[in-house]
Amino acid sequence: MRIVRTQVGIVGAGPAGLLLGHLLHLNGIDSVIVENRRREYVIDRVRAGVLEQGTVDLLQAMGVGAGLRRAGLRHDGLYLSFQGQRHRINLAELTGGKAITVYGQNEVVRDLIDARQQTQRPIYFEAGQVSVAALASSAPTVRFQHDGEECEVRCDFIAGCDGFHGICRPSVPDGVLTNYERVYPFGWLGILAEAAPSLDELVYTYHERGFALFSMRSPTLTRLYLQVPPDEPIERWSDDAIWQEMMTRMSTRDGWKPNVGHIVQKSVTPMRSFVAAPMRYERLFLAGDAAHIVPPTGAKGLNLAASDVVVLARGLRAFYDDGDTSFLDSYSDVCLRRVWKAQRFSWWMTSTLHRFPDETAFDHQRQIADLDYLTGSRAAMTSLAEQYVGLPVEVALEDVGLTRHLHSGA
Ligand code: FAD
Ligand code: DHB
Repeated sequence: MRIVRTQVGIVGAGPAGLLLGHLLHLNGIDSVIVENRRREYVIDRVRAGVLEQGTVDLLQAMGVGAGLRRAGLRHDGLYLSFQGQRHRINLAELTGGKAITVYGQNEVVRDLIDARQQTQRPIYFEAGQVSVAALASSAPTVRFQHDGEECEVRCDFIAGCDGFHGICRPSVPDGVLTNYERVYPFGWLGILAEAAPSLDELVYTYHERGFALFSMRSPTLTRLYLQVPPDEPIERWSDDAIWQEMMTRMSTRDGWKPNVGHIVQKSVTPMRSFVAAPMRYERLFLAGDAAHIVPPTGAKGLNLAASDVVVLARGLRAFYDDGDTSFLDSYSDVCLRRVWKAQRFSWWMTSTLHRFPDETAFDHQRQIADLDYLTGSRAAMTSLAEQYVGLPVEVALEDVGLTRHLHSGA
């Protein structure tokens, strides 16, 4: 068996694992990243696209912002649409200059994998039979198979960054974690289309036939979503049917609608809210989707993964620099405060903008009134704006050895 010794064993090379690995590298802390998929698979997965201001600042400060500066699309506002009318919410004006940036998760992951490979620190793709053990000891281990060889990573700590379906959370002994969960009675059908975005900001639409979302990835790629029944078979939707439904839900009375183009990717994602607490068991720390899932309406999933690992990096830095364990001890509480606020926001955005199968005519009218109030009240718009661009992270960039980058905008 091949034995590899490191300080932090990281399971999963999604945004959480890769960001943590690079943050630790910048603080002189060694790690090994173990990922069960192929490199190309990890990069090509089409997922989130909205980066909060704080996530943008973090990537810039970490020195991995070149792609983001080149191809990221800064949005100072967004639209809410209902009853055939679009209403703009000026995020920048309402938040003292903050904005969101549209930059695909797959680009973020590609940039971070490139950065990782430049550090020469280990990252194993296509690891088989990944397992973690000895979590309550001072020398926990990550075991896996790689190129036909048995490998064991011996470390001081393990970061479980292996997403919702990973093995780290289920490796915690029964009775330690409390799971909080809500499953929604719908999913999102998402497409990526070769069409120039017909508008330069996102449009969240509430329509009688259900929610729809207009987004983008680049000046030539439009990203669109439709509320559909949960577990809707994608085969049920021809490209023509998708476009027809998109147009029906999204077209506004002023004649705006998305541009049509060749659909290059389509899939259906179920929606749930989930939190496992605490986000730690002894020497195992859970981060990102391994610990919590939000419905995508608030665009928070990737951003929460980033804020978790900043908190974790601060704890590990204090441990290795000063032997101080207090920040590791407060890791779960600090993360969960922000996670629950993002949960609440994501649940609220989802409830406000979707049709529910069991709703009454009263509920429908109340939802319209919610949207009417929201788009007519500066107080309500300010609340949405400050949450959409991202609530503060309790740990400053300086606490993880970073300084704010000159190009970070805002
Ligand atoms: P992940 O990105 O899931 O990364 C976990 C990594 O661990 C993966 O690379 C996985 O292959 C690896 N892994 C899993 N099991 C093992 C194992 N046993 N051993 C080793 N490695 C393992 N958020 C939004 O904000 N907007 C969106 O539109 C949006 N769309 C999404 C669509 C889909 C289909 C999904 C699944 C998620 C979407 N999200 C979206 C959520 C967002 O993508 C996640 O919150 C984000 O990816 C979290 O990053 P993570 O690193 O915690 O987890
Ligand atoms: C995108 C995804 C989201 O979940 C969201 O709320 C906004 C945009 C996107 O993929 O572009």
